[in-house]
Amino acid sequence: MISYVFLGLALLQGVHAWGVLGHATIAYIAQNYVTSQTASWAKGVLNDTSDNYLASIASFADQFRATAAGAWSAPLHFIDAEDNPPTSCDVNFNRDCGATGCVVSAIANYTQRAGDGRLTAANIAEALKFVVHFVGDVTQPLHDEAFEAGGNGISVHFMGFNDNLHSDWDTFMPEELIGGSSLADARSWANTLIAEIDSGSFASQKASWIAGDNTANATATATRWATDGNALVCSVVMPQGAAALSAMSDLFPGYYNQVIGTIELQIAKGGFRLGNWLNMIFAKEVARRRSLDFDESELVPESELDGHGFLPEPQPLSRAKMARAALGYGCDHQH
Ligand SMILES: *[C@@H]1O[C@H](CO)[C@@H](O)[C@H](O)[C@H]1NC(C)=O
Ligand SMILES: *[C@@H]1O[C@H](CO)[C@@H](O)[C@H](O)[C@H]1NC(C)=O
Ligand SMILES: *[C@@H]1O[C@H](CO)[C@@H](O)[C@H](O)[C@H]1NC(C)=O
Repeated sequence: MISYVFLGLALLQGVHAWGVLGHATIAYIAQNYVTSQTASWAKGVLNDTSDNYLASIASFADQFRATAAGAWSAPLHFIDAEDNPPTSCDVNFNRDCGATGCVVSAIANYTQRAGDGRLTAANIAEALKFVVHFVGDVTQPLHDEAFEAGGNGISVHFMGFNDNLHSDWDTFMPEELIGGSSLADARSWANTLIAEIDSGSFASQKASWIAGDNTANATATATRWATDGNALVCSVVMPQGAAALSAMSDLFPGYYNQVIGTIELQIAKGGFRLGNWLNMIFAKEVARRRSLDFDESELVPESELDGHGFLPEPQPLSRAKMARAALGYGCDHQH
């Protein structure tokens, strides 16, 4: 019985966003870069003192969106950048975010909520779980892209399966590289990427991944992260356009070999950014508020904790957003 339950969960989790493997790997990398004070705060919030305290909740947001109670949160996993890949890529927050919010406004909202001790313990735990997930999602280029609903509508072949491009980037190409999707697989991949960040091929670029990141302007920061991911749609994900990918008899090995290094880069980036971001939430909000000379007048009014101020200016509904709505925000393909 138990193994059937776990199998069901694993299939569900595998459907959305970086899959379970990608999100858990990002979380383990972040765990490596948080300060001991940030770690004890997060462990307290999550009521989990284990070595997997971030990794084991990293896919919570995908499980939640698959429930009736959590369906409202589906648009928070991406931003529908309405650009024209592969010719031109860009993100415009007001144009692209959508009236009910997107991954950028969600990062801003849950960053504010995670650091605000006036909320309930359950609300703060929810906020931290969402931050851990969405900082990961925004590094997946196809979460920063409206074209064919983030590539969900691009049919391709991979390892003999009929897939869509989105699910191959989220799940099947990472799993092909690592050979599994367990927490042990994620930890092992994280250790490889941590070595690259500390003293390997990513060492010289890691500072640029977090340059200018600031929890006091989370919208600007997360828009920059989305812009960075979106640029890869033009340069790496579909440099010859989508039709060229659908026409390939299999994405393996040629396309896979071209893009797998970028997948590793984005996972490493997501983990390093998340660790730094959590350190900032802790130092600039949680710890600062605990200090004796903290001035309560700096707090945002409680009426703003629903994050409505982070939503974009109202825009007319575009064709890409109508197409996304018709899909029920789904990414419904799987092996
Ligand atoms: C924290 O977790 C422990 C078990 O790990 C459980 O007994 C306890 O009820 C939890 N506390 C809260 C506040 O959820
Ligand atoms: C946030 O950053 C953006 C872009 O750099 C800037 O235009 C805006 O004024 C900043 N907002 C705040 C509140 O600092
Ligand atoms: C902020 O988070 C709360 C709690 O999940 C949610 O009710 C609200 O809609 C969110 N606001 C935005 C702008 O995402």
